[in-house]
Amino acid sequence: MADNNSRKGERYATAEVSDYVNRVHAAHDAGLDEAFDAPNQHDIPAIMIGPSEGKTLEILCRLARVERAVEIGTLAGYSAIWLARGMSPGGKLYSLELNEKHAAVARAAVETAGLTDRVEIIVGDALESLEDLKAQGPFDLVFIDADKGRYDQYGRWAAQNLREGGLLIGDNSYFFGRLLESDTNADAMRRFHEQSADLFNSVCLPTPDGMVVGIRSDSLDENIIPDH
Ligand code: SAH
Ligand code: DHB
Ligand code: MG
Repeated sequence: MADNNSRKGERYATAEVSDYVNRVHAAHDAGLDEAFDAPNQHDIPAIMIGPSEGKTLEILCRLARVERAVEIGTLAGYSAIWLARGMSPGGKLYSLELNEKHAAVARAAVETAGLTDRVEIIVGDALESLEDLKAQGPFDLVFIDADKGRYDQYGRWAAQNLREGGLLIGDNSYFFGRLLESDTNADAMRRFHEQSADLFNSVCLPTPDGMVVGIRSDSLDENIIPDH
């Protein structure tokens, strides 16, 4: 829609409308419930994607027949469960998490979801884990949702380690509304957008905080993507 209100960025979604569509299209099973409720049970922040973004990840995985995927930022495993639901039983999602406690909570939720075979949670700094994961690639999908000041570096890794036609997805791409500010993290997020547009066929979906989705172009070669 492009009426004058929506052109200004206004939204018709209210809390009640969002709850309704989430219930109808993106209902939780026991594993998703456990991961989504984790901030109320453990000392972890309530910063996971919403149910509709989760269902979008599941559908994108199904559409692209994703078998091998990487997630940067596991938290309680909520987005990991949605991604893994969209993959076949032989699929593999490597989910990277710095915080040992988040990883433990996530492993339990993934087990409740019955997806332990499909999800491997790797504890450590994502940039180091990504270096090791290169050997397992190329990948069908990379989902970026960790430290915002490094989205440009994570996006570059994705461009170098996705197969042709593979999907790049980045949460929080409006950077909490601070995308256009001058600050090192906002600068990194804008570089992420611009690189994504250069190296992928991309869009920024207007989710509450923006979600970049890009398809890796056919003509790319690892050698022509600069490291910096
Ligand atoms: N994708 C999750 C939410 C992730 S929140 C979901 O939607 O369900 C961001 C997570 O990234 C936090 O758990 C945080 O501990 C982790 N994180 C932050 N910096 C990181 C880093 N350098 N390496 C790996 N994980 C990191
Ligand atoms: C934060 C991180 C996220 O990935 C998110 O979706 C929301 C908030 C945060 O660090 O505050
Ligand atoms: Mg996020």
